[in-house]
Amino acid sequence: MQETVINIEHLSKTFTTEQGALVPALKDINLSVDLNDFICIVGPSGCGKSTLLRIIAGLEQASDGMAFYLGEEVKKTNREVGMVFQDYSLLPWRTVLDNIALGMVFSGVARNESLQVATQYLKLVGLGDFARAYPYELSGGMQQRAAIARALANNPRVLLMDEPFGALDAHTRILLQKELLRIWEQDRKTIVFVTHSVDEAIYLADKIIVMSAHPGQIKETINVTMARPRDRGNPLYGKMNARILSMLDH
Ligand SMILES: Nc1ncnc2c1ncn2[C@@H]1O[C@H](COP(=O)(O)OP(=O)(O)O)[C@@H](O)[C@H]1O
Ligand SMILES: [Mg+2]
Repeated sequence: MQETVINIEHLSKTFTTEQGALVPALKDINLSVDLNDFICIVGPSGCGKSTLLRIIAGLEQASDGMAFYLGEEVKKTNREVGMVFQDYSLLPWRTVLDNIALGMVFSGVARNESLQVATQYLKLVGLGDFARAYPYELSGGMQQRAAIARALANNPRVLLMDEPFGALDAHTRILLQKELLRIWEQDRKTIVFVTHSVDEAIYLADKIIVMSAHPGQIKETINVTMARPRDRGNPLYGKMNARILSMLDH
């Protein structure tokens, strides 16, 4: 039997703007994520993807309904649930190595051990030679690798990724997609990955959640059963791409 890691039940979120207007961001979301799943969420801008991830991460509260992590209601952030944001959010005044070690130091891991673990994850994402560099010395793709290493170094069971490759050029993006799959397979993580790109979702996911906007709702859930590594030239790939794009159009 599959173990459910995340469960979302009838979850809605309405924001109140400074002027007092109500913004319904999410409406009646139901979703469950099993151990080792790779789930991608696609949907138009503003449909509540980031809000949903932030609620799962405990960074935001639902207005209605609940989010559960391993059967417990999510009320605050949790070390076992890591987040990778679109802007890499590395501290510019710290070296890459220190950026990655920081989370561990904050949670009480001894400095030496933190640096050791950070070094190991830097190698894993192919940045072994850049430990002493500062973020400004790295390209966008390298900074994004560092941000992924930072999330992984805390050894989360679940990785929430909010359009992590959105700012990268096409070549780097494809490279990092491959590496993420490798890391996912090697470390057996559970991943919830938000993306604008239908192509990216088909390349990565076991299951694609298609959302619609105003208010954000789940329109359809699509299982991707093509074997990995997936071939973008496979006619099934193109068919699925066209089908999801047309869903997003309506
Ligand atoms: N803190 C906030 N206050 C008011 N409205 C917000 C806030 N955060 C998000 N929203 C609104 O909620 C909706 C969903 O936003 P978001 O989750 O960022 O969408 P997405 O990530 O899919 O682009 C948008 O209409 C956005 O303007
Ligand atoms: Mg967003």
